[in-house]
This record gives sequence, structure tokens and C-alpha cells, in this order.
Amino acid sequence: MHPAYALSDAAAVFSPALVFFPELIRQNIRRVVEMAGSAARLRPHVKTHKTREIVQLLLDAGVTKHKCATIAEAEMLAAVGAPDVLVAYPLVGPNVARFAQLVRKFPGTQFSALIDHPDAARAFSAGLSAAGVRACAVLDLDVGQHRTGIAVGDGALALYELAATLPGLTLNGFQLYDGHNNQADRAEREAAVRAFLAPVLDLRARAEAKGLPVPRLVCGGTPSFPVYAAMTDVPGVECSPGTFVLHDAGYGPKYTDLSGITPAAVLVTRVVSRPTADRVTLDLGNKSVAADPLLEKRVTLLDFPAYKTVGHNEEHLIVETAGASAYKPGDVVYALPGHICPTVALHKEALVAEGGKIVGRWSVASRDRVLSV
Ligand SMILES: Cc1ncc(COP(=O)(O)O)c(C=O)c1O
Repeated sequence: MHPAYALSDAAAVFSPALVFFPELIRQNIRRVVEMAGSAARLRPHVKTHKTREIVQLLLDAGVTKHKCATIAEAEMLAAVGAPDVLVAYPLVGPNVARFAQLVRKFPGTQFSALIDHPDAARAFSAGLSAAGVRACAVLDLDVGQHRTGIAVGDGALALYELAATLPGLTLNGFQLYDGHNNQADRAEREAAVRAFLAPVLDLRARAEAKGLPVPRLVCGGTPSFPVYAAMTDVPGVECSPGTFVLHDAGYGPKYTDLSGITPAAVLVTRVVSRPTADRVTLDLGNKSVAADPLLEKRVTLLDFPAYKTVGHNEEHLIVETAGASAYKPGDVVYALPGHICPTVALHKEALVAEGGKIVGRWSVASRDRVLSV
């Protein structure tokens, strides 16, 4: 276990608790800035932490461009003073008018949102025009994940051309999110990125030849970050990792090219029962740690004997271990979540630890779906 995680005052910590370690967060931010070559090549995703304080740490490190997935996250970013915010999500229904309200409320922030369909782009433009505001449109390209985005090709070019003619919209580049690129081997990950990048660069050249600006390519998440960070031959690349800032047990050991990035959030849990000779039950149910990873990867218990996770209910995590007899109800155990982003969203606030002690609490402010807009 990382020495920073051990809390001298753990006895007073209600469990289950999420604990952030700002010194490790700062270290992770420094490391990605160093890998990217400058803060200007970063557009980190706020969804991992959803806290004002971590946005401030990023701003302090010179990061001016930010990405988010919800209007509440965008509002939190703007309220903290982020000058450039991309809502990396298709805006539909009443969210278009909400977004327009946000643009009006925070004139000091430049807002962008994704477009990937002509009808949605028209509706986006109409909503902005009705509110008398302008915003930027980023073309969401489907580079293989097949989640959102438009296929790279003539249709994408036509959509970008259309957006150039729509009132209220300013063209602001392409998003290339490759969440499907999770090869552990760096060379394989890099080859996969280079394979879809070639047609994207061709599309960009065709757009520019028509006089349509493509000032930025907003690229990837944490796994492909080292690839884009090292890509100095492509102008306008902005790296948009999110997880790195808190990191987790899911990414941690898998990607060796992310060395120097350390999990900066842990869960403090307690043994609540020893129901059988080989079982330990902890108060770390699926209401305090995300349940989307497979059961065996859901949590990593630190400094714990070899174990197998055998059950996970709302308030209970059940593990089997030959070392169970060493544990008794009340014992504190530290755990890393398998997936930090949805884990954070389960907590209203995170405790903040420095020098082995709890020194404060940070509100997970934009876990709420609506702030003021
Ligand atoms: C569009 C987009 N960009 C960036 C990210 C950040 O990815 P990661 O969590 O791997 O850092 C995500 C993650 O879900 C995403 O959906």
C-alpha cells in the first residue's frame, strides 16, 4: 500500500468513506503535463472527480481547457472560472435550452458541444439562436467505439459544412474518443490509434481545403493518453484523459506506460462480520463502490491476504480468504475501486487527507444533475 494512504486518525473516520490525497492528485497532474509537453495540450475530463477543488488544482497547473459530460459539470467548471469548456455529449431535448442558458450565464467561458447528426445540429443552432447566444460545435467522429459520433467520411464532411452555415455555431474541430482502445501493449494501442487517425487527418485536410477551420482534435481518454501525448507530428492534438487524476485499480497495473500516475483516492472500509471461518464481510457495498467492473475486479483490498470476492450487495462486500481469522469486526481495511469515476459519483463528499490525517472535505458538487441551470 502507498505510504500516503495510512491514516493515523482512521479510528474516527465513518465508513465506508471516500478519501482523496491532494498531494498525489497534484503529482498526477504534474505527470500528465510533463508527458503532454505542456498544459496547453490537455483538456482533462471532469467526470472522474466532479469537484471544484480538483478543477482549481488543474487551473493552478495552467490547464485552461476542460471537458465534461453533463450540464451540471459544465456549470461547475464555469463557476470555478474555467475559460474553455467542451460538453462532450450530444445535446438533445430541453438540454439545448439549458445549455443556451449556461452560455448566457457565464460570458467569461467559451462553451462547445458535440454534433454528430444534421437534425441535432439544426436543433442545437435553433436553440442557441432563440436564446440570442453563440457557442462552438465540435464534430464527434466515430473512430471505432460505435457509441456516438459520425463515421469518418463524406457524411462527416457534409455535417461540418452544414454546421458552418447554421446560425449561432462556430466550428471548433473534431473529437476522436477511442474508449475501445484498451490494449495493454503500448505498441498495439499506438498502431490502433494510427490506423484510425490517417482517415481523420484526410478529413481534416478536406475540410480545411473548403475553408472550414479544424483548430483542434480532442483525443482519447487515459489509456490512449500516452500515445497522443507523444504525438508531436499532428497539430492541434488535445488530450482528454479523465481517470488519471484519481486513477484506480482498473487502469493502474494494466498500462505500464502510465507509470508515475498513482491512485489518489481510496475507500476506507471496516470489517462488519466474520460469518464463516473463511469469510470476511466489509461495509463496502455497491452503494459505495461502483459495481460495473466484474466481481473479481470491483475492489482491490490493500495489504490484505489473498482473497476472492464472492458477493456484493447494497451495503456488503463479502470476500473469502484463508487469512480470515486475522480479522475481527471493526478492523479498518483500505481499498482501491476498480472504477473510480462512478465510485466518486456515489459519494456526496470526499474526505481529504494530508500528512496521514483527515484535513477537510470536498463536495462532489456536480454529482447532482442540476446545479442552477
Ligand atoms: C468522451 C470521453 N472523453 C474522455 C474520457 C476520459 O476517459 P478516461 O476515463 O479513460 O480517462 C471519457 C471517458 O468516459 C469519455 O467518454
